[in-house]
Amino acid sequence: MAGVSVQAFRRQGRRFGAGLVCSEMVSCAGLHHGSERTLGYLRLASDERPLAVQIFGSEPALMAEAAVLVEAAGADIVDINFGCPVRKVTKTGAGAMLLEDAERACRIVDAVASAVEVPVSVKLRRGLENGSRACLDVGPRLVDAGASSLTLHPRSARQMYSGRADHALTAELVERVAVPVVASGDVTSRAEAERVLETTGAAAVMVGRAAQGNPWVLREVLLGGDEQPSAAEVAAELVHFVRETARELGERRATGFLKKFYGWYLGRGRFPKPFAQELVRLGSTEAVAARLLAAAPGADELAGRLEDEAAARGATDTTLELPVSAYGGG
Ligand SMILES: Cc1cc2nc3c(=O)[nH]c(=O)nc-3n(C[C@H](O)[C@H](O)[C@H](O)COP(=O)(O)O)c2cc1C
Repeated sequence: MAGVSVQAFRRQGRRFGAGLVCSEMVSCAGLHHGSERTLGYLRLASDERPLAVQIFGSEPALMAEAAVLVEAAGADIVDINFGCPVRKVTKTGAGAMLLEDAERACRIVDAVASAVEVPVSVKLRRGLENGSRACLDVGPRLVDAGASSLTLHPRSARQMYSGRADHALTAELVERVAVPVVASGDVTSRAEAERVLETTGAAAVMVGRAAQGNPWVLREVLLGGDEQPSAAEVAAELVHFVRETARELGERRATGFLKKFYGWYLGRGRFPKPFAQELVRLGSTEAVAARLLAAAPGADELAGRLEDEAAARGATDTTLELPVSAYGGG
């Protein structure tokens, strides 16, 4: 998820049991121009793996070039974005726009799959317009062009995130291709994951928004149970997330980036409402961490343990100075 799936988020997902995590989408044009910010998306560490890195663009040659960089940075899968509904992306002919341009979409997949050794997967929406079934036409053609798996978020681009994901379409896609299909959309619990897997025949489910500020949902999806985290666990996990993000993005960027996460972690009735707003107003990540630790007895020890475990994995080394990294991460 763009603006969400930073390294700290991916590592957290892995710690809570996710079998595969994915990067934010990375612009192939940005990589081509050597944009420092874009190259920063390719800082990957071994404790995130298995990991997919997602690229977007509309030019097959540039997408292939980006895929080579992604593979060299250590990704286990190159994922291609044919789902992004945001105008800034679709107006360049990329993202969901490619659902209506199957010929170009196939040329992109072919170019990318020919350029790398690792598997290539594709993320799709159902189509551009409400009710579109474009994914059922384009999906099998993408497999013929070299896609090793497909992930379907069965909403239209126009829908953005409104309504429900129509997983009846996921079931139809599963029938039409011989590769694994991953179901994305509205999986928020183990019961929902089971329902989607049973009714679609999908090989896996992907959890997106439900994991924002709530990695415990991954544990629930995998193992069941309705065990809620204690206040100390929530505070400690957020403190660790804040610290990892500050190491990853640097203090200045992290301070702004993290603001949306406070409500995600501290909401759900876990802490009184004004607390997240109080954190948003604090000027440094260490001030946020100190306030959180003061708010929940026992959080300090838990956060210390998370930090020690991360250090043991080599995950606390700052990687900021590395432009592109196949950094071992322990
Ligand atoms: C903030 C945000 C950013 C997203 N960014 C991406 C992205 O970069 N690439 C992508 O394939 N999907 C992206 N998505 C879509 C999700 O991967 C997922 O398909 C969608 O949110 C539905 O699943 P969910 O109900 O589990 O969230 C994004 C979703 C959100 C909410």
